This record gives sequence, C-alpha cells and structure tokens, in this order.
Amino acid sequence: MNKTINCAPAISPGHPGQHITRLRLCLLALLILAAAISLPAVAQNIQVPQPNPGLMPNPAAGKALFEKSCASCHGANLQGSDKGPPMLNKIYEPSHHGDAAFQLAVKSGSRAHHWQFGDMPPVPGLTPDDVAQITAYVRLEQRKAGIQ
Ligand code: HEC
Repeated sequence: MNKTINCAPAISPGHPGQHITRLRLCLLALLILAAAISLPAVAQNIQVPQPNPGLMPNPAAGKALFEKSCASCHGANLQGSDKGPPMLNKIYEPSHHGDAAFQLAVKSGSRAHHWQFGDMPPVPGLTPDDVAQITAYVRLEQRKAGIQ
C-alpha cells in the first residue's frame, strides 16, 4: 500500500479551484487514515473480559466478593449508599445492563450517566470469574425483588 499522501498544492496553471479541491481531498484522506489507526484501539477498549467457559457461577461466592469489593458504594443489601446506586433498581435489570456491563464497569469503571454519585472507578484485583460470581449474586437478588 502506498502510505504517502502528497498534500503539496499542485503547481499547474489549471483551474483556480484546483488547489482547494486537492487540499480537501488530502484532509479527507488524512481523516480516513486517522480513523483507521484509532479504530483498533477503540475496539480493544470495549473488549469484554470473558469468564472461564466452564465456570458455574455461584451466588454465595459472589455475595462474599460483592461485600468485599462493591458494597461500600452499592450497599450491603444492594440498596445503594451515599456513594453509589442500588443494584435492585429496574435500570440494572438484565435487558438494560447485561452481564457484560458488569465486566466492563469493574475493568474500566463507569462514567456517571444515570445518577449523581460521580464516576465509578475501576475495581482492581477481581478476575472475570469473580465478576461473573458477583453478577450471579446480583441477578439472584434482583429476581427475588421482582426485577428481571
Ligand atoms: C467507589 C464506589 C463504587 C464501587 C466500589 C463500585 N461501584 Fe459500581 N457504580 C458506582 C457508581 C457511582 C455507579 C453509577 C454511575 C452512573 O451511572 O451514574 C456505578 C455503576 C455500576 C454499574 C452500571 C454500569 C453501567 O454500565 O451503567 C455496574 C454494573 C456496577 N456499578 C457494578 C459494580 C460492581 C460489580 C462493583 C464491585 C466489584 C462495583 N460496582 C463497585 C460506584 C461504585
């Protein structure tokens, strides 16, 4: 592939609008090139961590992990606190925040967009399997509360 882009104005006695057209084409080419370079990086950022395919998520194990890593903000009974929202809320039902949302929130944090608590920071020290256990616990409690 020829990677050089010639953006020098054409030296020709041609049409007066020619320089402008060429510059526009150059800008377009540069934009496309920039997008092509940044796309893989963006795709990488939204890669969802995958739990072990053989894992049987265990809500009891998830409860212990939740209490250790999430309850300080989301509340010991998933009812929320002054630092984070309740997980027993319709907006966190599986069809609105699927299991991938849990993996992504733990890995990369979450920008404040539903509430006024501020951003959720990433939570270090948890494997994708740990997060799947936590999610199983949250789903169980949500079902008990009629959120499904
Ligand atoms: C320091 C406080 C804090 C901790 C610790 C925390 N969260 Fe959060 N979390 C938040 C806040 C605040 C939001 C809401 C952001 C918003 O939408 O306004 C949130 C949102 C979420 C969301 C929704 C993300 C989305 O896509 O909208 C999930 C899922 C979540 N948290 C899971 C967890 C899990 C699982 C843990 C523990 C491993 C955890 N959080 C620990 C503060 C926290």
